Amino acid sequence: MTLRRKKLPKPVVSTINNKTIRKKKTHQFSQALISKFHVLNKEKERLKQQPQTQEVIERLKTIEKEMEHMGGLDAYQKASLLGQDKRRGGDSSKWFIKQLLSLKKPDEFLNDINYVAGKPTNPQTYSLLDIGAVSGSNYVKEGKWIKAKAIDLNPQDSLVEKADFFEYPIPKEKYQILCLSLVINFVGDIKKRGIMIARANKFLVKQGLLFIVLPNPCVNNSRYCTDDHFKKILEYLGFSLVTSHISRKLVYYLFRKIKEINIKKIQQSKPKFPKILLNDGVSRNNFCVVI
Ligand SMILES: C[S@@+](CC[C@H](N)C(=O)[O-])C[C@H]1O[C@@H](n2cnc3c(N)ncnc32)[C@H](O)[C@@H]1O
Repeated sequence: MTLRRKKLPKPVVSTINNKTIRKKKTHQFSQALISKFHVLNKEKERLKQQPQTQEVIERLKTIEKEMEHMGGLDAYQKASLLGQDKRRGGDSSKWFIKQLLSLKKPDEFLNDINYVAGKPTNPQTYSLLDIGAVSGSNYVKEGKWIKAKAIDLNPQDSLVEKADFFEYPIPKEKYQILCLSLVINFVGDIKKRGIMIARANKFLVKQGLLFIVLPNPCVNNSRYCTDDHFKKILEYLGFSLVTSHISRKLVYYLFRKIKEINIKKIQQSKPKFPKILLNDGVSRNNFCVVI
């Protein structure tokens, strides 16, 4: 008599193979690196504003060393590219393109080529500036109708121009679309965050679009910023909200430039939106935009 071997059920643990664990660990590691980098970057900017005592100088040196030890901006960007990985549902440009395609031109703007909505009629194209892009491939798929230019402090590929947006000259020929995806929160100085948005106004044509992405907790768990507060800042800087979307990790905003602003006047006057406590609580963060 031949004995038939009974098939054993697969142990549950075998569904978690080494590859999955490794991927998960790499993701956890890069998330930790991104968070740590942000914390150090913010502290660095804060210390730079203070009187340069020996103690402050020493702490700045320690922070620099720590950032260097982590691999510097380069390592941070590689980690953030991993976050953009399609398998992780990243790449915020997908949401923006979906919204752009669904926008319609109101009758009063039918003859205004700068009113950005839907796909432009061939051969017209939209001009787009992707600020803090890291990689230049974000809008390659839409290359036929979006002429994108990408800039970053430290480009990760040759499609991105190395440039600091704060130093970048305001162009004569303005852009129709500007992207600030996960960049405002990267800027450590809270006043420079406001200036970044104000400068975005000057780079855009009237009726152009500004696409902003922030980590969800910036507007949903901060002591100094709420979704409503952020929208008011944008309104003050000449923008009106077109649409927004909140996911577990990110918030997406699409604004339209509706008026010109005078940056110099804004910078010289008392901040209209200073750092004030809006929500108290120990588990909240300190994200803030001052202008
Ligand atoms: C978290 S990454 C965002 C990458 C990408 N936009 C995304 O959505 O995943 C932030 C990037 O902004 C860049 N950045 C920060 N301040 C900048 C500035 N003033 N000018 C140009 N790029 C800047 C940094 O170098 C960094 O690569």
